[in-house]
Parts: sequence; C-alpha cells; structure tokens
Amino acid sequence: MPQDYDVLVVGSGIAGLSLALKTAAAGWRTAILTKKTRAESNTNYAQGGIACVTSDTDDFESHVQDTLTAGDGLCREDVVRSVVRDGPSRINELVELGLKFSRDPGGGYSLGREGGHSARRILHVKDITGRAIEDALLHAVAKNPLIHLMEHLFAIDLVTSGKFELDTGPNRVVGLYALDVISRKVKTFRAPAVILSTGGAGQVYLYTTNPGIATGDGVAMAFRAGVAVENMEFIQFHPTTLYSKTHDRFLISEAVRGEGAVLRNFAGETFMAGYHPLADLAPRDVVARAIDSEMKKTGAEHVWLDITGKPESILQDRFPLIFDRCRKIGLNLSTDRIPVVPAAHYTCGGVVTNLDAETPLPGLFACGEVASTGLHGANRLASNSLLEAVVMADRGARAIHAYLSSSRPDLPEVPHWVSGDVHDSDEQVVISHNWDELRRAMWDYMGIVRTTKRLERARTRIGTLKREIHDYYWNFRIEPRLLELRNLIQVADLIVQCGLQRAESRGLHFTLDHLEKSESPVDTKVVLEPGAVDEVPGL
Ligand code: FAD
Ligand code: SIN
Repeated sequence: MPQDYDVLVVGSGIAGLSLALKTAAAGWRTAILTKKTRAESNTNYAQGGIACVTSDTDDFESHVQDTLTAGDGLCREDVVRSVVRDGPSRINELVELGLKFSRDPGGGYSLGREGGHSARRILHVKDITGRAIEDALLHAVAKNPLIHLMEHLFAIDLVTSGKFELDTGPNRVVGLYALDVISRKVKTFRAPAVILSTGGAGQVYLYTTNPGIATGDGVAMAFRAGVAVENMEFIQFHPTTLYSKTHDRFLISEAVRGEGAVLRNFAGETFMAGYHPLADLAPRDVVARAIDSEMKKTGAEHVWLDITGKPESILQDRFPLIFDRCRKIGLNLSTDRIPVVPAAHYTCGGVVTNLDAETPLPGLFACGEVASTGLHGANRLASNSLLEAVVMADRGARAIHAYLSSSRPDLPEVPHWVSGDVHDSDEQVVISHNWDELRRAMWDYMGIVRTTKRLERARTRIGTLKREIHDYYWNFRIEPRLLELRNLIQVADLIVQCGLQRAESRGLHFTLDHLEKSESPVDTKVVLEPGAVDEVPGL
C-alpha cells in the first residue's frame, strides 16, 4: 500500500525542516523523508552564520549591492531584493523557536564579517551556527503531530502522472519511490505536493567541505523528471579548508578572516591585496583563484591562514569548534599558522524555481541549496545560503498552501516498484572505484581553473562511467551507494554541460579559453531530451 500525505518533503536540513513546520502549521499532513539520521545535512556543519540586516548601521540596499556584486552580473535582482527584505522576519521566527544567536556584551547580536560583505551582518552561534539551527528546528518538528519524520528513507525518483500515463490530466508530480535503507525494500509515497530540499552536490569533487549526504540527489531526480536545471557550472570552492596529508580536511570559516586572519603564501608574504581591493575579504571566487594561482606559482601544496597574535582566550571563545579541531592535530590558532587549500563547497545552480519555490512541473517544489532561484548568480555571497533556505521555505510553504487549496485532481493509482530478477552485486569494488574516478576527474578537469579541452576530457570520462553505472543500476539490487553514484554522475554531467555552454569567464566559471566576460550574460540550462528518460526498473 502506498503511504499518502498532503506534502512530502525530501531532506531534513534547514530548508526541509523550515518548510515542513509551515505546511503543518497550515494544517497539511506533512512527511519528511531523510536518507540518513535526521540531523545529517550540510546545515548541521555550517559555521559562519546567516547574513541578515539587523543592525542600525546596516541597510537592505548594502546587502543587495554586495549580493549583486558577488554574483557578477547574473543574479536576478527582484529575487535578491525579496530575500534580503524577508530576512529579518525569518530570523525572528528562528529566535522564537529557541535559537540563541551569539550576543555582544551590550546585549545586541554579535555580528560577524565575511568575504564580499561591506558591513558586519552575519548572525552566528559561535562557529556552530548550523548545529544550533538543526537542533532548534528538529525540536519544533518533534513536537508537531502533523509532521511525520522518517529516517533512512532514500528518495530514488519522482513519480509523474505523464511518465506513467496514470491519468489524462496535465503532467504533474504525484509522489515518489524511496528505498528503505534498513529493510532494503522500495516504498511508494503519494502526495500532491513534493518538495526537494536535498541540499548540494559537493561530493562530486575529490576534496569538499560537504558531508557524505551531498550527492546532488534532488538535482538528478528533478532532471530525470524533465525539469530544467541551470547554472551548474557555478560550483563554489571555499578558499580555506585545513590542508593535511594525515587528517580529515575540514572547513576553517571565512569568519576567521572576518576577525583579522590573513592569507600568506609559502614565502610568508600576504598576497590578497594584489588581487582585490577588499584583500582577504574579497568575494570567494576571487580568493579561491588567488590561492590557486599562488600555489601554482611556487609549486606549494597549500597556503597559510594566519591569525597568530590574537589572544588564545578570544579565539577559543569565538571559534570553539575550529580551535578544538586544530588543537587535536597539534595546531594552536593563536600561535601557529594554519595550512589551508580551497575545496568544493556550494552548488550555486540547481533546479529552476521561481520566487515561490515552484518548479515548472506542477506539484514539484524545490527549496534550499538544491534550487536555483537566481539569488546567487555566478557566485554566492558568504552566508546567503542559510538565509535563502529559510526565506524560500516560507515562500514555498505559502505557495504549497495555495496549490493544495485550489481544485486539483485526485491522486491516481501509482504502480508498485518491481525489482525483477536482480541480485546483490559481488563486485562492490566497481562502485567504489567509479566514485573515486568520477571525483578525481571532476577535481582535475572541472576545478577552479578550466579549459574547453579539460571539460571535454571530463565529459568523455563521465560518459564511460554513466554507461557502466547504468548497467549496474539495472542488473543489481539497488543500495544507497549505487543510487548516490548514479546521481553524482548525472550531476557531474550537468556541471560539465553547463560549463561547455558558457563561453566566458564569470564568477566561479573561469576558463583560460574565454578570459573575457560576455556583455549580455545568460543562464546556462539543461533539460532532458524527450525520449531519453531513464526508466524505473520493473515498470
Ligand atoms: P542540507 O542541509 O544539505 O539538507 C539536505 C537534506 O536532504 C539532508 O537531510 C540529506 O540527508 C537529505 N537528502 C539528500 N538526498 C536525499 C535523498 N535522496 N533522499 C532522502 N533524503 C535526502 N551557508 C551559510 O549561509 N552560512 C554558513 O555559515 C555556511 N557554512 C557552511 C559550512 C559547511 C561545512 C558547509 C558544508 C556548508 C556551509 N554553508 C553555509 C552552506 C549551507 O550550510 C547549505 O547550503 C545549507 O545548509 C543547505 O541547506 P539545505 O536544507 O538546502 O540542505
Ligand atoms: C564559512 O563559515 O566560511 C562558510 C560560510 C558560507 O558558506 O556561507
């Protein structure tokens, strides 16, 4: 029997949880499916904070202009203005849920500074902002009887009425198939409104700040359902992740530079002033490229982040997580320079939505990092992601309420998933090898500095992997690693296709073959060709 809800939310990060609270508050039975444990999300690891105008010395126009400048000519200005203006109301709601942002001794918000911002405007909970947000939202969700949160349910594909010819009405989303990771059975869920809030795709690169969940599942699912995906070439590389040959790399927040840290090359010289007037607090694309260029010049494997001289007690209090993680590997922020390198961090493009989180496919909504609203343009401004997620969740919930309140056809019967004659693979190594190969190829050929030849090389590799994993998907019992790899390959292909469409260097897309900027930039878009649908097994 299918499980029926009014609203199906895929993902339990800031976007999915915020939206579910609002649809439930409007009276809709809401399910949240999440592929691992409930807190496991990019949100949970966010450090720097949420950009929002809350101070008397700041104003909306400055935040708008900073966002447009970082976005390098591709932001949608109406979206930027709406998101920035809605920010304070959404922040107040988080505070009402119990989120306690750090405050300064006078009682006002302690506001951080990050790259590309002309003012201190980043609300934070020390350097564990994401974890505090997840805690507050999950606490509220747990208390709401209209929300059913299900862990270890991996959404595989959307069910659309048109693809399965379920009725004669216009094509729309009517549910999805999800793998119950514990029982290993595929379950059918039906709902008139489905929200993708599956986060980003950092795992497509060898080095990333993102946790393992970030495999672009929502982008791949929407694409397979025929929804346009845009601007995927704009993968943001965070300038400063810890470099280590022996320990896990992890993010060193840009807020550390906001508190006075500077980057130094291997000769010990500061270098950012030579690249941008904002020096170490330039927008992220500029800083990551500058580090890449310094490393190439000297052959060094990293640069240094230097905040030495700041009192230990201050650093430990402001950055407890970073301080502790560095100390565990023998580095003291107050006395040691930290070796850092850039790593893939954020997916600026994604599933095309409007300002109400609606995709072009009726019944399908997308919210958070998975979506492309036009806020970020060619390069996201620091700490605008959590802001976008919480604002768009509110707008999306209103749109869903309107959609569900309007007359709409009943949910049709949805065929069960049939696994057919598949069995467990005895060659799991194929999956892990292909994961490694894909991530290495993307790092080498689709990284911070690109050329058309490198992109074509990436596309050839991806084509081979795609064919191999397609066979694997059809012939063996599905399991999460295989589903993730299938999605990662799809997303890698979309990133490269968008990159090949963009014959200019802009924001995060820097190619040696087209160093100039187009005078009339456009979004890159990819839509599944008719007839190229990747069918669901057994149907
Ligand atoms: P996520 O928080 O990533 O949640 C996605 C959810 O979807 C997860 O629960 C995941 O398990 C689930 N999911 C995915 N696929 C499936 C599937 N197939 N089936 C079921 N469930 C699925 N941004 C800022 O604005 N400020 C910051 O300070 C900041 N710091 C960051 C630090 C780090 C280390 C990282 C990685 C990111 C940071 N970002 C920051 C970016 C920001 O955290 C993310 O963009 C944002 O949290 C995304 O929220 P989301 O709800 O869209 O997705
Ligand atoms: C950071 O703390 O540097 C990350 C902020 C962001 O990704 O917006």
